[in-house]
Amino acid sequence: MTNGETKSNAANSMALDDMKQGVLGAPVPRIDGLAKVTGTAAYAAEYQIDDCAEAVFVTATITCGKVVKIDTSSVMDMPGVIAVIDDKRLTTRAAQGTANEAPVQDPKTVCYWGQPIALVVAETFEQARDAAKNLVVEYETFDTPSLDPATAKTEEQDEDTVSQGDLDKAMSDAAHTVDVTITTKGHASAAMEPHASIAQWDGEQLTVYASLQMLNYNIAELADALAMKEDKIRLISRYVGGGFGSKLGVSQDVVAASLAAMELGRPVRVVMSRQQVFQTVMRRSETTQRLRLAADAAGKLTGFGHEALVSNLPAEEFAEPVLQSSHFMYAGENRKLLLNLARIHRMTAGSVRAPGEAVGMPALEQAMDMLAEKADVDPVALRIRNIPEKDPESGAPFSSHSLAHCLEEGAKAFGWDAGTRRPRQKREGEWWIGTGVASAARIHNVQESRAKVTLSSDGTVRVETDMTDIGTGTYTILAQIAAQMLGVDTKHVLVDLGDTRHPRGPGSGGSWGAASIGSAVYLACQSIRKDLASRLGVAENALQIVDGKTADGQTLSDILDGSDIAHEGHYKPDEGQDDHTAAGFGAFFAEVRVNHYTGETRVDRMLGAFGFGRVLNERTARSQCLGGITWSIGTALTEALEFDPRDGHLINCDLAEYHVPVHRDVPKLDVVLLEERDPIASLIEAKGIGELGMCGGAAAIANAIYNACGARVNDYPMTPDRVLAAMPGK
Ligand code: MOS
Repeated sequence: MTNGETKSNAANSMALDDMKQGVLGAPVPRIDGLAKVTGTAAYAAEYQIDDCAEAVFVTATITCGKVVKIDTSSVMDMPGVIAVIDDKRLTTRAAQGTANEAPVQDPKTVCYWGQPIALVVAETFEQARDAAKNLVVEYETFDTPSLDPATAKTEEQDEDTVSQGDLDKAMSDAAHTVDVTITTKGHASAAMEPHASIAQWDGEQLTVYASLQMLNYNIAELADALAMKEDKIRLISRYVGGGFGSKLGVSQDVVAASLAAMELGRPVRVVMSRQQVFQTVMRRSETTQRLRLAADAAGKLTGFGHEALVSNLPAEEFAEPVLQSSHFMYAGENRKLLLNLARIHRMTAGSVRAPGEAVGMPALEQAMDMLAEKADVDPVALRIRNIPEKDPESGAPFSSHSLAHCLEEGAKAFGWDAGTRRPRQKREGEWWIGTGVASAARIHNVQESRAKVTLSSDGTVRVETDMTDIGTGTYTILAQIAAQMLGVDTKHVLVDLGDTRHPRGPGSGGSWGAASIGSAVYLACQSIRKDLASRLGVAENALQIVDGKTADGQTLSDILDGSDIAHEGHYKPDEGQDDHTAAGFGAFFAEVRVNHYTGETRVDRMLGAFGFGRVLNERTARSQCLGGITWSIGTALTEALEFDPRDGHLINCDLAEYHVPVHRDVPKLDVVLLEERDPIASLIEAKGIGELGMCGGAAAIANAIYNACGARVNDYPMTPDRVLAAMPGK
């Protein structure tokens, strides 16, 4: 086996599109689907481990202060109790950002209500839960917690600050202006599978079954938290029931289960309750965003301002990157962008489902709708008019740019009625009916990735990497890439993921997974193709294999003659990408009905048209888009974390009180996939798709609410009370 670190050399390699297996892009059903629907796919908490003890967290019931005493004697005599773990490393929270670091806080210091402070281990889950509820903890409270982002200390995030030209002057000179402040509430990732870990320690080696998105990064975090070497740790996350950002970093259960297993010399399982997932893992920051748009008489932007306030705990690095797409989305030579981070004592803010754009784009796209009305320009036309030719701040070219195409094709497919638009034109009984549009954008990035591919002499293929599949379809698209490259049926490809014994993948996050790990698999397969070609004495770009046979009828088994070929693909993001701005684009269209008397909004139908490079699997790509649009409905209408203003604790910490859209909320959804090839974005010419479907979609609903009933609501989510209050004549 060699380490193939070569970059793709297009001139000497057959293009993916020319390979006749023809499986890449096809709507192949998930190869892990059968295991999932038959219950044989094991999730973290489901591994059957002999003699496994059960553990439950005790969490802080103060907001700011010190744990003075944990009285273990209060529970040690309770039935089945084995231990109370209050190791000082226990407070490791879901790490965010780039540093592979252990906790940033003094371990016995409580910074937010709900912070884990101890772990009770018992023979059964019920015994552990009972003891956890009875554990006596003494606190000393200090400091008045800072709980309101509006009055808290703030820190400007320099890397986001842009001041170009003179926005104030552009605003005063403009024919049309919009100056609006839009707020969004905090969001929960709300993955179906709660955070859970089983740790096993054999005195030498720590094995942890956990529910994680980025094993390559998580192993470093855990090693750091435990002050251990990475090679003593094995993480396994073969199946993950959704992450949505909350499993990017190790959550508290991973560290706590490990500490307990090492201390007790016995396997320990920690499964967070739904309430604990809500209250301790992480939140998306609430945002307050001021949008200023200045435009000439035709609606062409001359000035663009986007200033946002977000929050996090003291000392945490992450700041919801609200402005991420605003930097390149629309033209406007006079620009002011600013991101402020308020320090407050609510639980850690981190990445939740399309961090940044998921809330930044809905605010921007609502402001654009307001501008369209003022300039009396069709909202689709207004957006197309303001698409910049190059990145308006860096001057970089775009790797590919499908926004205009998405808006046009989406409008056609949706039946958008172009032209002058006025609210309150259509009513059926109590219901006002209207439509709205919004653009979608999500930055594209790729990460260093490694994958090993083995072509066996029996003609089967094995793909191995510690990459995860968090429900997105990674297993399937990697099988398709390998199948396309090596000319076999996908059913002959075994994909083995989610184990740190394998080469390091990029993890699943930021929509970089498919393009990054797909490129590593591509490189590994390319090395195998080169080997095969040289055995056959042909050039690689002439090697055509279909269903395991070459054009002249030789089978892979014939060529391999009893020996396997294995290569590791090592994908290093091309420096060339730094010269380009790369993003996925799209357009959302929504038709809603708003009840005149109650302010209730129902989405009747929604359509998204998206361009994100090569479509690797039409079915799983479409599913990602459907999921994104569904989250857009949640952002627009229902999802909001509510914190008690007295102590900052999260009030609505379950799926009844924190409402994510369910079937009854999700109407007819249509997805239009606009195929592109973006060779700058990745070796497989694909960009990210996971998050694009919720980057702006909420504004299509907000704008449709306005078009329907004339209520311009500037606060998400647009609950009936808010819509009713903004209804004209109320
Ligand atoms: Mo994502 S919110 O970067 O998993």
